[in-house]
Amino acid sequence: MTNKTFTLTNNTTGASVELPVKTGTLGPDVVDIGALYKQHNVFTFDPGFVSTGSCESDITFIDGEKGVLLYRGYPIEQLAGRSNFIEVAYLLLYGELPSADELASFSSSITHHTMINEGFLRFFNGFHYNAHPMAMVSGVIGSMSAFYHDSMNINDPVHREIFAHRVIAKIPTVAAAAFKHSMGQPFIYPRNDLDYCSNVLNMFFSVPCEPYKISPLAAEALDLLFILHADHEQNCSTSTVRLAGSSGANPYAAIAAGVSALWGPAHGGANEAVLKMLNAIGSVENIPKFVARAKDKDDPFRLMGFGHRVYKNFDPRATLIREMCHKVLKEMGDSNAPLFELALALEEVALQDDYFIEKNLYPNVDFYSGIIYRALGIPESMFTVMFAIARTVGWVAHWLEMIADPAGRIGRPRQLYTGAPLRDYVSVDDRK
Ligand code: SDX
Repeated sequence: MTNKTFTLTNNTTGASVELPVKTGTLGPDVVDIGALYKQHNVFTFDPGFVSTGSCESDITFIDGEKGVLLYRGYPIEQLAGRSNFIEVAYLLLYGELPSADELASFSSSITHHTMINEGFLRFFNGFHYNAHPMAMVSGVIGSMSAFYHDSMNINDPVHREIFAHRVIAKIPTVAAAAFKHSMGQPFIYPRNDLDYCSNVLNMFFSVPCEPYKISPLAAEALDLLFILHADHEQNCSTSTVRLAGSSGANPYAAIAAGVSALWGPAHGGANEAVLKMLNAIGSVENIPKFVARAKDKDDPFRLMGFGHRVYKNFDPRATLIREMCHKVLKEMGDSNAPLFELALALEEVALQDDYFIEKNLYPNVDFYSGIIYRALGIPESMFTVMFAIARTVGWVAHWLEMIADPAGRIGRPRQLYTGAPLRDYVSVDDRK
């Protein structure tokens, strides 16, 4: 805590209040308003939490003006270029890059937790054949607390670590089961001889009738996408996990809450919405019509995959995904090239338009990711599930950080009440 203060003055009463200011390692200072209500009987007001910090965190730093994203201090560009998803998962969970032995032990633990209890598979038989995979995944993740009673004591660090490894290891298996159910194909068990991303591809695409050849480029592309989607500070779904976990709810329930929050088209559901939008635009000639709609205040249509609460410059992840798009489409057949060309053309038109320039609307992480998923054979309905697989690492890292905080307390925001004033009950016979 520094001795910096921030003074607020109440123009009605003339009273001033000095609030303590806290300085972090990087980024803006924060004004600690924790005592404001008790001492001055006022709340702050910040719907959508545009200017509100909810916690201290050592995990991820974003500078939206400069397009900077750091995981535990390491730039996303360096991790994307030199690391892999399992190593990044270790970094996010434990705070440091692992030694070779630490990495081998962590990777082995994840590998040996990828199987799911056979009871889970019976859940899938109950889902309608065309259930949205996110509905299945959120339900099954929440049901994990019905199976793993041996890792539910949130006050026991050993239980917390077992939970962390279990849910990171099993989310791809649950995702694959949802995918196979939606296709009416038999469930494929994880294989311990495969790395994390190759296992995802094998569980998704192999069938019992013939050998499945895993494309190294497909595994590389998935690994990059998982690294880029692993964490992102106090985003909507991560804040949901923290809030749910702050009540002492079991960690599987908190992660299931995060899956549900991610599903929204304003958040992780945007990658699926981008593909629907590109298919609706159809051709470069139609771009101006859709850009005009996105600018029309009376039209609820927005350019999906554009804009971000924090990045008011480019989203560094979108840049890296766009580069991988070129590589994947070049090697894996250009059946999706028209879609990619359309996306590139849309980006070019939007970035030259005054409306998008003035409002700092740039392509975000969701704008290009779906094109790669499509090229890998993953259907649109599974795009947000892919996001959830990666973001589970961030959710777990933030849950661990939140639950280990001795000063932690239940999250319970207040409000500005604008409803009816005090009034007495009127019996139905006396009502007008
Ligand atoms: C993710 O928080 C995270 O970190 C999220 C994420 C992560 O890794 O966890 O990065 C992942 O969720 C990325 C965002 C995916 N969502 C989309 O692509 C959906 C389309 N984008 C938006 O709906 C919007 O940009 C948000 C939700 C991303 C950001 O919303 P904000 O910060 O609340 O901004 P806003 O809605 O107040 O918009 C500011 C202005 C508005 O115009 P005015 O009212 O000021 O006149 O910009 C306009 C908006 O109408 N605007 C858009 C637009 N996005 C914002 N106009 C057209 N098209 C868009 N995409």
